[in-house]
Amino acid sequence: MEKTVEKIRKNNENLLEKYGSPLYIYDYDILEEMCKQMAGFKNNIENRIGNIKINMHYSTKANSNPAILKIVKDTGLCVDCMSPFELSINKKCGFKNDQILYVCNNIDKNEMNMVYDSNVLICLDSISQVETWGMIHPNTEIMVRINPGTNGVGHNKKVITSGKITKFGITESNLPELFETANRYHLKIIGVHQHLGSLFLDDKITDYIDGVKESLRIIKKYFNNIRIIDLGGGFGVPYYEYENKLDLSKIENELVNVLSKFIYDYPSVEEFKFEPGRFIPCESGILMGTVTAIKYENHVWWIGTDIGMNQLVRPSMYDSYHKVSLLNNTDSEEIIANICGNICESGDIIAKNRKINLPSVGDTILIHNAGAYGYSMASNYTGRLRPAEIMIYDKNEKLIRKRETIEYLESNIVW
Ligand SMILES: Cc1ncc(COP(=O)(O)O)c(C=O)c1O
Repeated sequence: MEKTVEKIRKNNENLLEKYGSPLYIYDYDILEEMCKQMAGFKNNIENRIGNIKINMHYSTKANSNPAILKIVKDTGLCVDCMSPFELSINKKCGFKNDQILYVCNNIDKNEMNMVYDSNVLICLDSISQVETWGMIHPNTEIMVRINPGTNGVGHNKKVITSGKITKFGITESNLPELFETANRYHLKIIGVHQHLGSLFLDDKITDYIDGVKESLRIIKKYFNNIRIIDLGGGFGVPYYEYENKLDLSKIENELVNVLSKFIYDYPSVEEFKFEPGRFIPCESGILMGTVTAIKYENHVWWIGTDIGMNQLVRPSMYDSYHKVSLLNNTDSEEIIANICGNICESGDIIAKNRKINLPSVGDTILIHNAGAYGYSMASNYTGRLRPAEIMIYDKNEKLIRKRETIEYLESNIVW
C-alpha cells in the first residue's frame, strides 16, 4: 500500500482535481500480484493432488469493475456472480459459460430463467429454491449449497454464513427432503457448495478447515456421484497494521491433506472450486478524499471529509477498521480524532479515536484497503454521487469508471 501512496505522490497531476473527490484508486501491480498468488495456490493444490481440477472463481461481488475482472481473466481465474448485472459484466469481460458460476440466494423465476438461458451452472441454496427451479427447468443439472453447521468464519457476525443462525444453505437434517424434491423434478445434483463467511486470517484457518471437513463428511454420507465441490471464499487480508498476511501455503498443506483423503474414498469428484473475493482487490484499493471541516467539541476532535458512508459503508455497517492517512501535511501535531463523512447520520464515521496528524481543510485523506466491498457496496444515499474509479500504473493512470452526475441520477425518474 505504501508503494501505491508513492505512485499517487509521484503522479504530477492532482488526481482529485482531474477526476473529482472522492476517488477510488486501484494499483494494477497489486491486483496482478494477488491474482497470481491465487493462481499459484490453485496450481500447487492441483499438482499435489493430481487428476483433479482446481478452479478459483473470483467473487465478482467484491469489486465488479471490468478492469479488475480482465486481470482476473488474464491470470487464468474464473468468476462467480450473484446477480444479473454481475453475470452480464462477466460475460462482457469474455468469461466463457463454464468459467462462470451463478451462486444465488432467494431469487425469483425470472432470474432463474435468465440464468438458464445464459447456460451457466446455478447453485441453489434452499429446498424452496430447488423446488422453484425444478418446476420451470426439470431434468437439469444443479449445484446446491449446504450449511455444514460449524462455527463459520468472518470479521463480523453479519458475514458469518455457517452455523445455526444464517439464511444460507441446507442443513444436514433437511437433506432427505432436498433429495425428494430434486428427484421429483429429475434434477441432477452435480455439485455441492459451502461458504463459511468472509475474512479469515491465519488464526482462523482451523475453523475454515473444520468447515471443509464437515462438508466433506456430509457429502460422503448423503450425496452420490458429486462431480464438483465448491469450498467457497473468505480468504482474508490484513486491515489492522498488526495483522499478518494470510499464509496460503498453510491452507494449501491442510487442504491437500484433507482433499487427498477425501477423493480416495469418493472417486466421482472431478473438481474443487474456491471463491476468493476480497483477497484479490482489497489491498490494491485506496479511497482518496478531501478534508472538508475540522472541529474540536466537548474535548473531541472531529475531522469531516467528503467520504461518506455511501462511498464506503464497511466502517458503519460492520465496524470495520481501515487505516486512514494524510497524503501530505504529515509533520503537523498528532491528535486523536473521529474521522467522518458528509452524510447526515451519526453513524457516518470512517474511523473512531484514530491517531492522525492534524489536517487542514482541503488536505487529501486516504482510506486504505478499500478495493473490496468498497465501490461495489457504494450507494446514492442522500443523493450523493458515486465517485470515479481509476487504475494506477507506475507512471500514469487510467479512468475505469466515470464519476456519476446529477443528470445520471435523475435519468431514471419519471417526472
Ligand atoms: C457465496 C459467496 N462466495 C464467495 C464470497 C467471497 O467472499 P470473500 O470476499 O470473503 O472471499 C462471498 C462473499 O461473502 C459469498 O457470499
